[in-house]
Amino acid sequence: MKVLANDGLAKSGIKALEEAAFEVDLTTVAQEKLVDYLNSNEISVLLVRSATKVRKDIIDNCPSLKIIGRGGVGMDNIDVEYAREKGIKVINTPAASSHSVAELVFAHLFSMVRFLHESNRNMPLHGDSKFKQLKKSYAKGIELRGKTLGLIGIGRIGQATAKIALGLGMKVVAFDPFIDAVNLEIEFFDHQAVFFNINTISKEEVLEQADFISLHVPAQKEYVLSEQEFGMMKDGACIVNAARGGVIDETALVNALESGKISKAALDVFENEPTPKIQLLMNPNLSLTPHIGAATGEAQNRIGTELAQQIIEILN
Ligand SMILES: NC(=O)c1ccc[n+]([C@@H]2O[C@H](COP(=O)([O-])OP(=O)(O)OC[C@H]3O[C@@H](n4cnc5c(N)ncnc54)[C@H](O)[C@@H]3O)[C@@H](O)[C@H]2O)c1
Repeated sequence: MKVLANDGLAKSGIKALEEAAFEVDLTTVAQEKLVDYLNSNEISVLLVRSATKVRKDIIDNCPSLKIIGRGGVGMDNIDVEYAREKGIKVINTPAASSHSVAELVFAHLFSMVRFLHESNRNMPLHGDSKFKQLKKSYAKGIELRGKTLGLIGIGRIGQATAKIALGLGMKVVAFDPFIDAVNLEIEFFDHQAVFFNINTISKEEVLEQADFISLHVPAQKEYVLSEQEFGMMKDGACIVNAARGGVIDETALVNALESGKISKAALDVFENEPTPKIQLLMNPNLSLTPHIGAATGEAQNRIGTELAQQIIEILN
C-alpha cells in the first residue's frame, strides 16, 4: 500500500512504515494536482502537516484513499467530519509536539525580556560602530522569575508551558472555559517529580494579573485577544502567540504596541500565512518566527512514529 507524505515525514516514520511493507512517497505534489496524483498512484494514505489542504474535492474524487493523517495538532486544513462521513479515517498526533511548542514560547520570552530579538537585528549592522549605544538600549532587561504568566487555554501545550514556567519560579494563572483545574506532574531528569495544582480563573482575571500572556487555544471563529482585551491588561504586558493565526487581532496588536500598552509580543503564527503583514515583520517590538513551534527533531520523530503506528494498526 502506498503512503504519500506530501509535506514530508521524519525518518522514524518512514522506517516504521517501510518495515511494515508500506511504500512511502515523499513527493511534494502541488495542491491542484493532488487529485490526479492520488488516483494515478493509487495512494491509500495521505499524510500532511499544515501546508496541504484536504478538502471535499480530494475526499470525493480519490476512491483509493483510506486514511488522511495530520502530523501535528490542528486539523483546520482537513475537512475532518466530511472525510469521516465518507468512511475515511482521519488521524493526528495531538501530544507529539507540546513540549517543543512550550520551549519555543520560552525562547521568545527569554529573548524579549533581554531584547535579543532587537539586538540580533542591530548587532550585525551597528555592533562595531555603536556598541555603547546598543549596550545602553538593551540595559533595562528583566528576569522572568517571580513574574506572572497568564495562559489562555490550558490543554496539552498550555500545561507543558506551565511546567516550564513553574520550574523557573514564575507564578502561573490560567483561563480555560472547559477546564476547572489541572494537576501537573513536573518531572526532573532523575525521575523525581513534583505535583502542582492550578485552578483556572476568569479570562478577565488572567488579563489583569499577568505580566506575560501566552495563548494555547485552537483556531476560533472570533479573536481571543483584541482591543478590548488589550485594554484590560497590565500596562507594558507582553504577549506570545504560538497557537494559531487569527486568535490575536493583529491590527489591534500593532496599535497596542504603538501606544505602549503592550510592550512586546512574539508571534509564531499569523493571520496571513505564508505572507504575514509587513507592519508585523518590520515592528521592532515583535519577536518573530515562521510557524516553527513543532519544528524540532524530537517532535518530528515522535510525529513520524505515532503516525506510522496508527496507520499500521488501522490497515494491517
Ligand atoms: N506553533 C505551532 O507550530 C503549533 C504546533 C502545535 C500546535 N499548535 C497550536 O497550539 C494550540 C493548542 O494546542 P494543544 O495541543 O494545547 O490543544 P488542546 O486541545 O490540548 O488545548 C487547547 C485548550 O484550549 C481551550 N480553549 C478552547 N477555546 C478557548 C478559549 N476561547 N479561551 C481559552 N481556552 C480555550 C480548550 O478547552 C483546551 O483545553 C492549537 O491551536 C494548535 O493548533 C501550534
